[in-house]
Formats: sequence, C-alpha cells, structure tokens
Amino acid sequence: MNKILTIALASLMLAPSMGMAQKKAQPTMKEVIGKHFLIGCAINTNFAAENNAAATKAITENFNSVVAENCMKGEVIHPEEDRYDWTSGDSLITFAEKYNMTAIGHCLIWHSQPPKWMFTDKQGKTVSREVLIDRMYHHITNVVTHYKGKVKGWDVVNEAILDDGKFRESPYYKIIGPEFIELAFKFAHAADPDVELYYNDYSMNKPGKRAAVVKLINDLRAKGCRIDAVGMQSHNGLDYPDLSEYEQSIQAFIGAGVKVQFTELDLNMLPQPWQFSGAGIEQHFAAGDPKMDPYTKGLTKKAQKEFNERYLAFFKLYRKYADNIERVTLWGVDDGTSWLNDWPINGRTNYGMLIDRNFKVKPVVKEIIKLFE
Ligand code: XIL
Repeated sequence: MNKILTIALASLMLAPSMGMAQKKAQPTMKEVIGKHFLIGCAINTNFAAENNAAATKAITENFNSVVAENCMKGEVIHPEEDRYDWTSGDSLITFAEKYNMTAIGHCLIWHSQPPKWMFTDKQGKTVSREVLIDRMYHHITNVVTHYKGKVKGWDVVNEAILDDGKFRESPYYKIIGPEFIELAFKFAHAADPDVELYYNDYSMNKPGKRAAVVKLINDLRAKGCRIDAVGMQSHNGLDYPDLSEYEQSIQAFIGAGVKVQFTELDLNMLPQPWQFSGAGIEQHFAAGDPKMDPYTKGLTKKAQKEFNERYLAFFKLYRKYADNIERVTLWGVDDGTSWLNDWPINGRTNYGMLIDRNFKVKPVVKEIIKLFE
C-alpha cells in the first residue's frame, strides 16, 4: 500500500475514537470553583494514608484543599504534656504535598477534644490561670512551629461564643477569662508570622453570635492581633440556617474586614431530636428509633430534590460573595464515612455530602459547577 493511502486509511479508522476523545469531560469542582476560592474537604487518617483508592481518586479529582477531620486536634496531637504525636498530622501533610493541595490546620484551642491533661494537675486539681496560659503557649507554639510553611492557616480558636453572643463557659474561659482568645492568636502569630489565623464557629447565622464575632474581630484587631478570616462551619440542615440570616452574617464579617470561609459544610438529611440545635459535638441522643433513620434504603425523590435545591441555594450565596470568600470546605468526603451518620445519633444512614457511598460525585455537583462557569 502506498504511504499516502496508509495514512488516509489510518486517520479514517481513528476518526470516530478521536471524536469521542474530543467530547469534553465533565469539569470538576476544583477545576471550575477552584478559580474563585479554595474548595476542600476534611479527611480522616485512613484517607490521608491512602488506604482507599476510590477515596484518593475522589478527593484529588474534586478538591484542591484538605483539612484534618480529627488528627490535629489537641487530644490526638498532644497526648501527654511532654509528648506530641505528629504521625497522622504529618501523613495528611504528605498527602497534601503529593497532590498539590492546600492544607489547613484544625484546630488549636477548642473545648472539645482538647489535650486530656490540659486543665488539671497531677493530683487532678484544676490548674491556675498562669499554668493554663503556659500550657496553652507551649501547645500552640509547638504545633504551629511543627507545621510552619506546611499549612496555609489555622483555626486558632473554635466555638468560643454561644448563640446568644455570650462567651462559652469552657475551661479556657473559666480559668483564664476571655483573654484566652487574644492570647491564643498572639501565641500562634509569634510562632509563625506568615500563617493565616482564623476564628471558627457554628450557628454563625444567629444574630447574637454574629454581633459577638464582629466585636471579637474588632477587639482582636484593636489589640494588635492578626485575624485573616472567620470560619462559618455550616453544618446545615434543610430548614436551618435561615438563609437571609446566614447572608447577613457573611455581609457582617466582610464588613468587619476579614475573609469568610465555609469550613465544615454538610447537609443533614435526617430528622433531628427535638432538643437539638447547632453543631455542638457533646449533644448525643439514643440510637435505635427507626423513625429517626428513614432513608436506610436511599433518599426519596422528594428528599433528593430538597437536597439538590438546598445545596444550590448555599452555593449561589458562595458565588455571590466569591470575591470575599477564601475557602469552602466540605466536612468529610463521601456519605459513607461522614460524621453525620453518627451524630447526633449513632449508626444512621445520612446523605450530607456531595459524593455518595460509592465515591461517585452526585448529579447536583454539575449544577453547582454551572453557577461558577
Ligand atoms: C467532628 C469529627 O467529624 C468527628 O469524627 C469527631 O468524632 C467529632 O468531631 N465542629 C468541628 C469539628 O469543629 O472538629 C467536628 O468534627 C464537627 C463539629
């Protein structure tokens, strides 16, 4: 066969498959939304260690940022006063570096999951103000120094303010007083002047909390502290938060001169116990009532529609304020491993994430992406 004929035949044979290859693959969240702000997820130690290939694929295709779901919290990273355990936190950083993702630190000072020894002495007596400040100083200094240059920013203080705007009566508050917040920000900044510093909390839509957080930002700045952004956790439900309150909080924080981040986004699809509110992890209710676990075989069409509409409503807001948003992070990766299956009731089947139990991206993601194209 002459050469020209061979080339012509070969290109004819290739044509259909080339046509298919030219059909554009569906762009992912990080490719499109990633142009506006960081889009991240919280990962557990199992995922950070790459023990699940489907999870690795889902995380790295869809997100450009990761945060530790638990392993950088005080109780894990600082098990004894003179001992730190960097193993899992370091593995998360290795993961982030390997896949070119921005790592975020969560969290330095929080009343939940603190270092177990933090508030008492060897006899079990509550420590003095001076001792607790000293312990806080060493904890923050060592953790921030260890991850210097490796995380973009830290949730310095988590959940210090109640819905009505009062300070939470945490051990930090009771022993040190409200100054524990500014001290935490100062210690973190001294340990790494380049790292960003955040205040993070849930139910940030509530007017009382909103006003107190704005005051906190102003007070911190007046005292010469660095604060870059506020994290609105956003453990959302179908009927909370009120969207207009939520938007007013976004506006208020931007008005106070910080960036806004949505740091723990998910959407609880299950009925809530009547006493329940917010995202306080100390709230736990008995398991076993089938009425409280209605979707063990999958969401109904109606619930699926509500899920899609609700996620779209949140992302419409994120699109609207994109210029002042630094990051949106989902609290988890897939429905199967989301904490919402075990909180506030253990062992239920929840559907709060944008990736399903088989690590497939849910259909609504295509609609979400369209908002940003
Ligand atoms: C949750 C984790 O997802 C769970 O695995 C753990 O058992 C409890 O904490 N607010 C926060 C997060 O700031 O750290 C919490 O994470 C969820 C509520």
